[in-house]
Amino acid sequence: MELIDTHAHIDMLEGYAEYYIAQAAENNVSKIIIPGIEAEGFPVIIEIAERFKNIFFELGLFPSEALKWNDDYPELIKELAQNPKCVGIGEIGLDYHWDKSFIDKQKEVFIKQIEIANSLNLPITVHDRDAHEDVLEIIDKYNDNSEIIFHCFSGDADFMKEITKRGYYLAIGGVVTFKKAEVLKEVAREVPLDKLLLETDAPYLAPVPFRGKENQPAYIKYTAEEIAKIKNIPVETIAEATTKNAEKVFRL
Ligand code: NI
Repeated sequence: MELIDTHAHIDMLEGYAEYYIAQAAENNVSKIIIPGIEAEGFPVIIEIAERFKNIFFELGLFPSEALKWNDDYPELIKELAQNPKCVGIGEIGLDYHWDKSFIDKQKEVFIKQIEIANSLNLPITVHDRDAHEDVLEIIDKYNDNSEIIFHCFSGDADFMKEITKRGYYLAIGGVVTFKKAEVLKEVAREVPLDKLLLETDAPYLAPVPFRGKENQPAYIKYTAEEIAKIKNIPVETIAEATTKNAEKVFRL
């Protein structure tokens, strides 16, 4: 069995990257993608990706950091994206959960980064928190050729259908193992296997039985097992489909 963690902030984990990557390998995680958050962190994630064969990275300015956008960003992203380990633009999008005081700036920065992804022909990892409608409207209007991945999907089954019918992917994380996550469990039940990806979003949102603790890529198997249980199919089928999807969409 082979699993791919499409979204793990290895740079934010408490211990050494070596430790978590070894733990992941022992738990059948073959590849890991580290998303970008802001320019200051780019050298750190690039260093990790260059040091380990099966670790990749993305570049992007996280929506809650949108006020840090400046004219240097487009060139910086375009230059660093030439690195063969760069597999996408992310995580970018809209976050209305924490701070709604600069929504216009979030939108502007999201749109600019979609255009960068389009120009580089790279997939986009979307962060969408309480902003489903606006996120979809912007993608519909501005995305041209990039594949779209909704990371840590938090919509309902109707929203899942809206995005999968457009050919977009969604990544499900540890939240699906939470007892009260009925909406996400329904999404997991109904999502077509060819649009599903797995992620941990480590160090956040650890699955049961580690809920509340520091998450890490090695725990992704609990999410795979839960989705298999919900879909009533073998976990190997989930692993095979999600690994194939990740390799295809991120060209790993
Ligand atoms: Ni994240």
